[in-house]
Amino acid sequence: MTEYVTASIDQPLTRSNAIKLHDEAGFAGMRAAGRLAAEILDMLVPHVVPGVTTGELDDMVRRAMLDGGSVPATLGYRGYTHSCCISINHVVCHGIPGDRVLKDGDIVNIDVTPLLDGWHGDTSRMYLVGDVPLKARRLVEVTHECLMLGIEQARPGNTMGDVAHAIQRHAEAHRYGVVRDFCGHGVGRLFHDAPEVVHVGRPGTGPELRPGMFFTIEPMINIGRPDVKLLDDGWTAVTRDRSLSAQFEHSIGITETGCEIFTISARALHKPPY
Ligand code: MF3
Ligand code: CO
Ligand code: CO
Repeated sequence: MTEYVTASIDQPLTRSNAIKLHDEAGFAGMRAAGRLAAEILDMLVPHVVPGVTTGELDDMVRRAMLDGGSVPATLGYRGYTHSCCISINHVVCHGIPGDRVLKDGDIVNIDVTPLLDGWHGDTSRMYLVGDVPLKARRLVEVTHECLMLGIEQARPGNTMGDVAHAIQRHAEAHRYGVVRDFCGHGVGRLFHDAPEVVHVGRPGTGPELRPGMFFTIEPMINIGRPDVKLLDDGWTAVTRDRSLSAQFEHSIGITETGCEIFTISARALHKPPY
């Protein structure tokens, strides 16, 4: 059975299976962390161009996080040593920044999580590098639609299965594969908290959504099969069939009537073309 607990500063910063229900102070904390995260993705728009390296983008992200009074939550997280994840083309998620030079036609996900005053703002967007073929642009567009259709289902009384089903239905209507091996997650003072937020499922199944729940929705959608494989670096996940993959992520909070998106772009840079 799903267990729900009132969130409290006294709770240990270790994961438990109970779903936390946050108060207004939590909403304020996530609003600030989410706003900063969105501003960092906004800031990157003119820099994601042919010729830049992913390591240079990571440096910009780290600088912006520190300038904003936050620290990169990924830095030192389970041995990860970078300030964001940058996942190009057939990389599904957790691409490690480095020497890779962005080139014309690449589709790129940048996933950032500033930890601000104890709260994690976790969000990612796709960027198009130069001229991107229609097939790839369509994948990016539909993946954003999947995220927003999932968010539309995020309201009290609905279940995680309603969110998952909306995403799966739309992706599969386009004959895309929805990745099973990675999920969204509860978020707040912890980077990855209960519950797991799956992106495939049946309506009416899974935990019921209640006001005060904070979690991410972050569907990874492949042009081909859903299957992924982990590279030898222990982080980079790629599509097994080498097909292109796209992802968008928001951190949200369930309200009395629906949800609040903490990581919305104030400059309306939600999706490319920017
Ligand atoms: N930001 C990712 C997420 O959406 C997690 C990255 S963890 C890292 O949950 F260690 F790979 F950076
Ligand atoms: Co996340
Ligand atoms: Co993320």
